[in-house]
Amino acid sequence: MAASVRGCRVPCRALLSPRTGYGASPSALPVLQQDHKVHYSVIPHGRSGRSSVSGITATVFGATGFLGRYVVNRLGRIGSQVIIPYRCDQYDIMYLRPMGDLGQLLFMEWDSRNKDSTRRALEHSNVVINLVGKEWETRNFKYEDVFVNIPRDIAHLSREAGVEKIIHISHLNANMKSPSKYLRNKAVGERVVREEFPDAVIMKPSEMFGREDLFFNHYANMRWFVGVPLIAFGKKTVKQPVYVVDVAKAIISAIKDPDSKGKTYTLTGPNRYLLHDLVEYIYAVLHRPYLPYPLPRPLYHLVAKFFELNPFDPWITKEKVDRFHTTDMKFPDLPGLDDLGIVPTPVEQKAIEVLRRHRKFRWLDAELEEAKPARPVTNM
Ligand SMILES: NC(=O)c1ccc[n+]([C@@H]2O[C@H](COP(=O)([O-])OP(=O)(O)OC[C@H]3O[C@@H](n4cnc5c(N)ncnc54)[C@H](OP(=O)(O)O)[C@@H]3O)[C@@H](O)[C@H]2O)c1
Repeated sequence: MAASVRGCRVPCRALLSPRTGYGASPSALPVLQQDHKVHYSVIPHGRSGRSSVSGITATVFGATGFLGRYVVNRLGRIGSQVIIPYRCDQYDIMYLRPMGDLGQLLFMEWDSRNKDSTRRALEHSNVVINLVGKEWETRNFKYEDVFVNIPRDIAHLSREAGVEKIIHISHLNANMKSPSKYLRNKAVGERVVREEFPDAVIMKPSEMFGREDLFFNHYANMRWFVGVPLIAFGKKTVKQPVYVVDVAKAIISAIKDPDSKGKTYTLTGPNRYLLHDLVEYIYAVLHRPYLPYPLPRPLYHLVAKFFELNPFDPWITKEKVDRFHTTDMKFPDLPGLDDLGIVPTPVEQKAIEVLRRHRKFRWLDAELEEAKPARPVTNM
């Protein structure tokens, strides 16, 4: 059966229960069409929405992370079938279940070190999305594993399996010369994915903000300490954060756009800010006093080293210090959100989504307009 349905690019489970949708002549079709190249259940039909069929069968590696939930939701709401490889407890993925119609989200245990496990996860999909990432190195997985070896395996096995499109998420500042090991490995990751799958779509988002982010929430959580440590007061670092929903929309647009193959996109917000001004705005929205103080990089690293002793979820790491204090690069020649038909969302419009919960009770419903917007920089 596997051979005869290979062209269908749909898990066999789905073949056994094709959904009679709202499209053309559904009743005339038999339940199984093994002799047809493309099965009815993957022919796009319906008026869009979770109960329609988009024709996309996507494996989303790293779906359990911050960006993952937005991507799965966007895929689910256009009626895609989503394969979600996971390594966590199954109770930790329950929030993903309502994001797709009944039977359209398929969960499978995944061991990223086991190639057969990776192959099984992607071999029936026509789209593969790699969102795997980790903010810190663990005893089992170094940055090289997460950002180079896993993407290499995914790209290689996707090519072997005849996957049509792969979307690899890198980082805007991925650079071999970066002081951050995270960003250096991201740069190698981009290269190996291109080598293994030349038509891969590579997306380079800047730091993302959104309800579950580790950027705005990180600075907002510093309210528990005395002041906010910033290298050179944050006046030498320029950031251009992007809204996580815009990144998820960009991924869906790139899947639909036949011209996106082989391209690299930079995904950034509409404005650039000094890190100092951005954090000042965060505290203005919080209605809390902003007390920045300069911390030299070596001292900051020393503090981070202390936090890195935490084996679970270090609050800050040396890598994070370097990444957050890296000025966002500009790539005028690469396509961006606009080229995918997405209008980037300004920080001032959505920061409140992230920050309201950090406010004191008396400011919970305060109007956003009361916070003076950060001044964008144009010449850096
Ligand atoms: N967040 C940002 O601001 C930002 C900015 C630019 C680029 N990026 C990149 O965008 C991607 C998604 O970011 P994110 O913020 O959504 O990351 P995230 O929240 O840390 O989620 C990462 C995902 O990768 C999985 N993962 C990590 N290590 C794994 C391993 N060894 N084996 C299997 N699964 C593993 C995690 O699974 P578990 O849940 O089981 O750990 C999780 O599902 C990453 O590549 C990141 O580097 C992020």
